[in-house]
Amino acid sequence: PDARPLTGKRAVVTAGPTFEPIDPVRGLTNRSSGKQGYAIAAALAERGARVTLVSGPTGLATPVGVTRIEVETALEMQAATHAALPAHIAVLSAAVADWRVDTVAGGKIKKAPGGPPTLALIENPDILAGLAKPGPLRPALVIGFAAETTDLEANARAKLSRKGCDWIVGNDVSADVFGADGNTVLLVTKSGAEPWPRLSKAEVATRLADRIADHFG
Ligand code: C5P
Repeated sequence: PDARPLTGKRAVVTAGPTFEPIDPVRGLTNRSSGKQGYAIAAALAERGARVTLVSGPTGLATPVGVTRIEVETALEMQAATHAALPAHIAVLSAAVADWRVDTVAGGKIKKAPGGPPTLALIENPDILAGLAKPGPLRPALVIGFAAETTDLEANARAKLSRKGCDWIVGNDVSADVFGADGNTVLLVTKSGAEPWPRLSKAEVATRLADRIADHFG
């Protein structure tokens, strides 16, 4: 078998959390470690793909052979993801903040006698839904993630059609996932749902990359 079946294919992978500033020293973020997305970027590169990894703040090293673009906010992640097109493959595993602070303070917000400040939030764009929309730059294979604590299959299926992507990697986050090395996933495609056994994040990545190679092969 071909050791580098994705040679000639371009991939964009998003990973990690986003960081949405409140003021110059504070922000809103989440507990995503980026491990799963980094492992997927590495597995795609090992199979010959040219991979751009658009990453929020993580403590992880850039995988060998991968081009990493570092971003902080959802808006920056969206711009960098679009700048990485055209691509054949998009795997959007980042934990994008649903909201950002509407007006970022230019200076550090002071503790005031009037009490704590009120932060007005506005919705961030859905990078996955935007990328999956039909159009000349839509990657041939768009893969999203769905982190769920209940009804994994139903929620993953609903997300597949709502976002317009091709596959969803459903993530059972009722067990420990954030920052952990293991992951329990369900691969949902238009033709069915396939539960995978509990695997390491590296094993999830190699299986997914093999499935992607089969899809194009
Ligand atoms: O809607 P929900 O956040 O559960 O969807 C998760 C999927 O959508 C993930 O693939 C995530 O990377 C992607 N997403 C995105 N932009 C957002 C929110 C989620 O690309 N603003």
